[in-house]
Amino acid sequence: MQYFLDSAHVHEIEYALKMWGLDGITTNPRHIQASGKPFLQVTGEIGQVVAGTALTVSVEVNPHHTDYEKMVAEGEKLAAISPNFVVKLPATEAGFKAVSVLRGMNIRSNLTLVFSAAQALHAMRMGAFFVSPFIGWKETNGEEVRAFVQEVTQIRDLYDFETQIIVAAVRNGRQIVDAALAGADIVTAGLAVYKESIEHPYTDLGLKRFQGFWDETPYGTPA
Ligand code: E4P
Repeated sequence: MQYFLDSAHVHEIEYALKMWGLDGITTNPRHIQASGKPFLQVTGEIGQVVAGTALTVSVEVNPHHTDYEKMVAEGEKLAAISPNFVVKLPATEAGFKAVSVLRGMNIRSNLTLVFSAAQALHAMRMGAFFVSPFIGWKETNGEEVRAFVQEVTQIRDLYDFETQIIVAAVRNGRQIVDAALAGADIVTAGLAVYKESIEHPYTDLGLKRFQGFWDETPYGTPA
């Protein structure tokens, strides 16, 4: 089970690489905007952080593109910037077509904004390298998400598709566990979500108790 960081903050990426052995990075227009830097500048900086590694960086094309030719042209441009870049495309008819054209050029893609198993299936059959079912948005909308992820992994395994499944828009540790139990390959989440997922109030409470006992015990010398 791989952990990707959903962020365009270089300091967050460096922190997660150092502390958690991060497996990859996903970005989107919201994260790029939050970085406060121009699109090509910040994606280039992230590319430099992972240069020489196998870590992928998913970089989304202009969301205003409605025809696949424009998506492909921008995807080609992005892929030329860094071999680590995976082109992120929307789960629209044009996006699916762009996946297959880019695949023919040996350029990897990540289908984003996937909200149904049918969309995920089409992404797989068109040759997506990654498919990103969004669970946080669905759950907020009152939809179930466990069966959704299970269906996507089941389809992938039944037909031996090579596509890796990134469970995206993950909001808490429970969703990380659910994604793992459903057989997803990867989760992508923000820094705070991972941090909270590896903390527990009882761990802190227990540590405080043990510190009390420790302080009341002489250290001594070996017998
Ligand atoms: C995943 O690849 C997306 O960037 C991300 O999870 C989008 O959802 P969010 O911005 O609502 O978390």
